[in-house]
Order: sequence, then structure tokens, then C-alpha cells
Amino acid sequence: MSKALAAGSVVAVIGSGAMGSGIAQVAAASGYRVRLYDARAGQVDKAIADLGKVYGSLVEKGRMTGEAAAAARANLLPAASLDEVADAALVVEAIVEDLGAKRALFQSLEAIVGADTILATNTSSISVTAIGAPLQRPQRLVGMHFFNPVPLMALVEVVSGLATERAVADVVFDTALAWGKNPVHAKSTPGFIVNRVARPFYAEALRLLNEQAADPATLDAVLREGGGFRMGPFELMDLIGHDVNFSVTSSVHAAYFGDPRYTPSVIQQELVNAGFLGRKSGRGFYHYGPDAVRPVAATEPAAERPEWVSISIEPGLKQAVTDGLEARLRKAGFEVSHRKPLPHAGEREAPAFHTNGAAVFLTDGRSATERARANQHPDTVLFDLVGDWDKASRIAVARADQCSEKAYQAVVGMFQAAGFAVTRIDDVPGMAVMRTVAMLANEAADAVNQGVCSAAGVDIAMQKGVNYPRGPLAWAEAIGLAQVVGVLEHLAQTYGEDRYRVSPLLRRHLANGKRFHV
Ligand code: NAI
Repeated sequence: MSKALAAGSVVAVIGSGAMGSGIAQVAAASGYRVRLYDARAGQVDKAIADLGKVYGSLVEKGRMTGEAAAAARANLLPAASLDEVADAALVVEAIVEDLGAKRALFQSLEAIVGADTILATNTSSISVTAIGAPLQRPQRLVGMHFFNPVPLMALVEVVSGLATERAVADVVFDTALAWGKNPVHAKSTPGFIVNRVARPFYAEALRLLNEQAADPATLDAVLREGGGFRMGPFELMDLIGHDVNFSVTSSVHAAYFGDPRYTPSVIQQELVNAGFLGRKSGRGFYHYGPDAVRPVAATEPAAERPEWVSISIEPGLKQAVTDGLEARLRKAGFEVSHRKPLPHAGEREAPAFHTNGAAVFLTDGRSATERARANQHPDTVLFDLVGDWDKASRIAVARADQCSEKAYQAVVGMFQAAGFAVTRIDDVPGMAVMRTVAMLANEAADAVNQGVCSAAGVDIAMQKGVNYPRGPLAWAEAIGLAQVVGVLEHLAQTYGEDRYRVSPLLRRHLANGKRFHV
């Protein structure tokens, strides 16, 4: 049975800025009476007037009936002082991101609201435990972390501090459900779920850029058109703002006592130093404004289609990976011959594909150059992970330094014939999509291993909070945990950095063969 607060209950929203208004919009539209308060004079009236317009435009677009809009609008009530929220069953705070200000607000509220009123904070970066510490009854304080823009983003992280009572978190969870949201329980730890698990999406891209794997436009295109992410990491960082993104990374890094997993990038720091904050300042990785020319992704020119392609199934490599590509090659009219997964003379490992003398492997975290040497097969080309073999329009390849032009061109021609735009990135270990997804899965597994959230929770959070095409753990299972762990181990070997240490939970699931969640 749902523990949600009943419709018609009073929800107070303190702070009527971008987030508070969004929260009020959603709660009022779900039939809750919302009292809005803000310390700034005139802000509440402005917020309510703006929300009236928002409901009006939803009616125009046919997404809300006129009746529902009128009812929602009537549910928005201004509070001229904090005392006027005394009848609230739930208070949601969305004021400045400052520990002192939040503590002071909740201490004032304790003297105003009833004993059973639930206090919720929308903080995105402050410890819920710390906010609740000075309260008389910290067990009723919980995080209710919405994502921007609130009406469009389904995720709500319901964050429990050390003192938070489970029953309180459950009521907030079910109430978020009643508001049409997708809540997920989380433990109060730095970054909660999304702001922690998403770090590698930016950090690996920044490292790739730092190592000159490719330029931002090219890496963005590979992650978007190959990986299936809605936005590439550089365009997304430009949208978020480098000041905000750098500060989140730095605060998570500091909060984990300098764990190298979260080390910020000097590239980001320099952008902040320069004032190149992204879209909002007219320049970040890209230029904005009327005259700005968007750089295009590097794409290989048309190459000749090779005569034949042969496939073998690498041991440990999920068939899904080679099957997807094989289906596209067959559709392109290739006679695909299977051969035993035995290496050619001189090679130690069987490649996924062979074409015109080139051995083509899915990246396993080593460079193509290293693999060419290990296999004594100079003509080695690697391909990057692709999110969805049916839909992907671009694939990244990396060429061993020893590889001949003829063999490389055969591989380019093969992928082009299969309908991919082919992007060559420099021969960096783990390539782009694979390295990013492996690190996202690793971070997700650690969050689960440390009790921050459940496996289902982290996968929902990353899909609903940052629009990832798949949950990182389900994605890792689709690739094969052996492949993911192998990539991380090779990255750890290459860089010698603790950053790439493998989550114990990934190893455990690899060993026990169990699914993360069904
Ligand atoms: P905002 O600046 O748009 O709105 C904050 C509002 O709070 C302002 O209207 C301000 O006058 C009012 N305020 C400040 N101190 C107050 C006080 N002591 N009592 C009453 N009202 C006060 O900020 P925004 O973006 O709405 O963020 C608010 C909170 O939500 C922050 O804690 C932030 O970390 C959190 N958050 C923000 C997200 C975002 O993307 N902007 C995402 C998730 C959480």
C-alpha cells in the first residue's frame, strides 16, 4: 500500500527559484496544495504568475485540460512568512546551496511546523546528515533531490542521512511516485547517485582530449552517434557550465578524501580560469553566438569495400557484440564466413573479424599497437563499443602504429559498407565509448557495493536523471562482465593509476555469474 501523503495535503516549498517553482508546478498539478515561500520580496508572486502561464501553455499544447490547469493553479498559495507554512505535511527546501543557510532554515521550521511534518532538502551536494545534525528531530529530515528542469526530469533521489528514519524516506518515495516521478532511494554520500556515477562520463572524455585522442567535436560525435548518448560529454559540459561541473567534480573529489577516481581535469580548470564557462558565456569547448561555426567531427573519406570478411567469436566476448556487427555486414551484402576461433599463424588471439589481411578486434583496454605486437600481426585495427548495433551511425576505429595503409583502408571500407561513418581516433587504450561505459559501470558497481543504492536504483537513476541510453550495470552485462573487467584491468596496467581499480562487485558477479538485477 502506498505511504504517499494524501492528495490535498499541504506541501510547503521554501525557495521559489528555478527548482522550487518546478517542484511546486509538479506537486500542484498532482492535486497537492502548495504553499510557496521565498526570502526575496516579490519572488513568490512572480513564481506563481509564471506557473500560471506554464499551465496555460500546457493546455494550448493539449498536454493538460483547462480544468486540470485551473485546479493546479488554484493549488498554488503564497506564504508571506515562514509561519504560514505551519499546516504543511511536507516541507521541501530549495534555497541557496549553503549548509549554514539550510541548517538555519530547518531549525526555524522545527519551531513552526507540527511534530509529524516531514522536512525535505533538495540539496544536490551537501550531506543530508550534516544538514540534519543540529535539529531536535533529525530523523524526519530527508533528501528529496530533483533534477533540472523538474517537470521534465523524472528522477528523484530520496536521500537518507545517518539519522533519517526509513519510514520518512518511504513516505517521500511514495509521494514522489504520486507526483509522477521515478524515485530511487540513496544513502547520503558525496554526489549521492547521479552526481557521483556520472563523473566518468566527463572525466574519461577530458582524459581522452588531454591525450589528444581526438578533438571535442569528434569525441562528442562518437559518444552520441556510436555510443547512443543523447549528448556528447563536451557539449553537455558546455551546457551545464564549466564552473558548475568543475565545482561538482572538485567537491566529490575532496569529499572522498582525494580518491583518484574523481580527480578533476586541468583542462576544465583552465576553462574556468579563462572565463570560458560554456554556452552561458558564449565560449567553452565550442563557440556560441550568431556567427559561431560548429566544428564537424573527423570522418574518414570513402574507402573501397573489401572483398571478404571473416568472423570468429573471441572467447569471453559476448556474441551480442559480434552478432550485431555481423547482422549489419550481412545486410550490406557481405558473404560472412565463420571460422574457428583459432588465431592465424603468428597470432596469439583470434580477432573478431578478418578482412583483407587486417585483424579487427573490439577494444579490450589495450592499444592497437600493443596488441599488434603481442600477436605479431602488424595489420591490427580496433573498433570501439557501439551502444545499439541496429541504430548506431558512427563507429570509432584505432589503428596500430605498425598497420599498413592497405589493411587499414580495408577495415574502413568494411565499416562504411555496413553503414557507419568511420572516425579514426588516436590509438589510446580503451578507446572512447568502451572506456566511458566500463568506467560508468565500475562506478555504478561501487555505489551498489557500498550500499549507496540498489543495482536497479543506479540503473534507473542514470537513465532518468541524465538520460543515459541504458543503465550502466545492465549495459555491462550486455557487453559481458569479462570484457568490462578486462578493459579496466588493462587501463589500470597502462596508467598505473588507482583510478582504474576494478570494483569488487564487478569481480564478484563475474565469478558467480549472477545478474545484477532481473
Ligand atoms: P535559485 O537561485 O533559482 O533559487 C533559490 C531561491 O531561494 C531564490 O529565489 C532565493 O531568493 C531563495 N532563497 C535563498 N535563501 C533563502 C532563504 N534562506 N529562505 C527562503 N528563500 C531563500 O536556485 P535553484 O537553481 O532553484 O536551486 C535551489 C536549490 O536546489 C539549491 O540548493 C540547489 O543545490 C538545488 N538544486 C539545484 C539544481 C539545479 O540544477 N539548479 C538541481 C538540483 C538541486
